[in-house]
Amino acid sequence: MAGNDNSRLPELRSNGSGENWGSRIGVILAVAGSAVGLGNFLRFPGQATLNGGGVFMIPYFISLLLLGIPICWIEWTIGRHGGSKGFNSAPGIFSVLWRHPFSKYFGALALIVPVGIYMYYVYVEAWCLAYAWDYFTGTMAQYPKEIAAYKEHFDTFVGKHDNGFLLRNGAGLQKSVVFLVIVFIINFIFIYRGLTRGIELFCKWAMPILILFGVVVLVRVLTLGTPDPARPEANINNALGFMWNPKTAPGESIWTPLTNTQVWLAAAGQIFFSLSVGFGIVLNYASYLRKDDDVILSGLTATSTNEFCEVCLAGLITIPAAFIFLGAASLTPEVLSSSFELGFKALPAVFARMPAGSFFGALWFFMLFAAAITSSLSMLQPAIAFLEEGFGMGRKLSVTCLGMITAVGGLLVVYFSKDLIALDVLDFWVGTVCIFLLATIQVILVGWVFGIERTKQEASRGAAIRIPGVFWFVIKYVSPLYLLIIFAGWCYQAVPRYIKNVVAMNADDRGTVLLMLTFVVVLLVFFGLLVNLAGRNWRAWGKLPVREPEEALPVAAGQSNTGGRQ
Ligand code: ALA
Repeated sequence: MAGNDNSRLPELRSNGSGENWGSRIGVILAVAGSAVGLGNFLRFPGQATLNGGGVFMIPYFISLLLLGIPICWIEWTIGRHGGSKGFNSAPGIFSVLWRHPFSKYFGALALIVPVGIYMYYVYVEAWCLAYAWDYFTGTMAQYPKEIAAYKEHFDTFVGKHDNGFLLRNGAGLQKSVVFLVIVFIINFIFIYRGLTRGIELFCKWAMPILILFGVVVLVRVLTLGTPDPARPEANINNALGFMWNPKTAPGESIWTPLTNTQVWLAAAGQIFFSLSVGFGIVLNYASYLRKDDDVILSGLTATSTNEFCEVCLAGLITIPAAFIFLGAASLTPEVLSSSFELGFKALPAVFARMPAGSFFGALWFFMLFAAAITSSLSMLQPAIAFLEEGFGMGRKLSVTCLGMITAVGGLLVVYFSKDLIALDVLDFWVGTVCIFLLATIQVILVGWVFGIERTKQEASRGAAIRIPGVFWFVIKYVSPLYLLIIFAGWCYQAVPRYIKNVVAMNADDRGTVLLMLTFVVVLLVFFGLLVNLAGRNWRAWGKLPVREPEEALPVAAGQSNTGGRQ
């Protein structure tokens, strides 16, 4: 791998692969598509209701301003910079940013996050498609209208009762697994088709459609009035109040929830998950921009689209509808805190009670599926880019390799189905902890290693608007400090609670947690090794200097190349 074989030197173009987005609206919709997903429609409403209702929006918007938007701009900027230096993958982009042999290993984290999240996200995506299908075909109408019936249906559907779901009683493939296979194949077909003919094309159709479907369901919910005259309190005004009025215990000020660090952690975590920031995705997508394409207005537009879907659509639909038809008592912390159960247990019971509920149920779950697929596609592309530029693989081989890697994780999630513990472990360690780590590393690398002045210059090239000056101060000082404080608070509060919960589990469940933790470590080591090998290749191909740090990076197309031997 590390030989000086110049014949394998990939042609270096304006960015690593030479692929570019087809249009500005295409890239904005692709990034917005990556952001808008299950995190908006299922995770956000539950998090907001649990963490103080209206008060949650204070830490939420502060996190958006101090973390979400600045880090999003950073990712767009350094992604485009990395692309202009010949790299589309995070390990390569980080090598350009910080000319140190170790920098590329930070990039490994930006591969593990999207790939690790994909392994369970695609399964939830399959549930959405299966539920949409059941509404279209009328299967859902057969259930009794009670939430308990939908709960039991969901638990059986995903195998929550026992492990070994895939092979249950030799009864053949379960329905959720069949849909998983279908959705898995759909994802890889679009990824195989490439950036413009796959991701961009799909997002250009899916984003307007899902927003349209979301608006239709929103209008239906907002015009519900008081559907059951026997329960006059179950009306839309009270429902919106339940979601959005500040929630405080008797005698507490509305500021009390704000002294709870858990609320701040939840808000920051929601912003990251929802914007796909700290995922390594925006870095990769921005690397396909042309050198002078705008990054500032485009980043802001994608962020605004995500916030519209999250606050205006999801925030006004999910919980208010559940409140009206099921009552506040059904919205227990257990149902609200789970990222997914609200959507699959409570909402079918809502649609069952709603006039034309089957139609709106089909629309809703299809919208969730469309939102999820635009996100899951974005989780695959960073690793595809890495396999191609790190090992000179063609599209077919890179798609096959990534398909096999993600299938292993997907099988573990499906097989260890009891109480969805395997899924939760990946969601917690990869979908929360690793995201925080990656976001912190990026903001420190940009603010303190690459430098604010260089980032400012890079960001302003081709920019349609200027970043207000205060944001550079935020990026250098406030965001890293804010992240470190949140991270320390998280270590102090959440980790001990997590360990306590694991210790209290029965042996089987604890075994699943330990197995999945081992799997996460194996992923880390595996991608670390791949990054090491890719680094050797890049040096051998002259894309990185042999000895680092060094000035000339990288060798441009057509220029003389030493093959890394100097
Ligand atoms: N940002 C994606 C979502 O919200 C991952 O689901």
